[in-house]
Amino acid sequence: MNILLLSGSSRNGSFNTALLDSAASLLKDCQTSRFAIEQLPFYSDSLDGDNRPAVVRDFITAVEQADALLIATPEYNYSIPAVLKNALDWASRPAFVSPMKGKPVAIVSASPAISGGIQAQAHLKHVLAGMLANSYPSPAFCVGQSHNVINNGKLQDSETEQRLAGYLEGFLHWLETGRL
Ligand code: FNR
Repeated sequence: MNILLLSGSSRNGSFNTALLDSAASLLKDCQTSRFAIEQLPFYSDSLDGDNRPAVVRDFITAVEQADALLIATPEYNYSIPAVLKNALDWASRPAFVSPMKGKPVAIVSASPAISGGIQAQAHLKHVLAGMLANSYPSPAFCVGQSHNVINNGKLQDSETEQRLAGYLEGFLHWLETGRL
């Protein structure tokens, strides 16, 4: 199983990237890879098709080669950060036949707010539905008050780590069996 990990934050010490770091260690029986989506230019139809920049082609190849995606998203103004929306817009083309069609996607989020980014998760699922991706239909994995459990870009709370392990186990089971 090859899982592509995408973070919606490029912030030093990002809570969401910390979740991906922990996930990468927990997914030891999988191959994981990452792509820094902040490198991508803003989507423009003029840059698409035969004109795709090399970085966009590399990103699309990474999405194509992945059996599944794990996205860690911050919540910005009750939605997902522009950098993540932009990456998904690239990956969603051509519409309805893109590498995102049917792609299994799991979502995690972390926020200093008690709500843990749940509104961003709802928006992300909506966006993924627009490109016919296959969102993991599980109760959400959110980390609220993330500053209490993540320090210096590292998840430092065993209970949260166990909860993440359980979420990922469920995701792998769903990927392998198609069952929840
Ligand atoms: C935020 N933040 C935030 N948090 C939240 O729970 N709901 C929200 O609507 C917002 N809105 C928001 C907008 C903008 C522009 C910024 C910069 C931040 C706070 C956000 O959760 C916090 O900055 C996290 O630390 C971002 O995640 P990373 O970078 O730590 O992964």
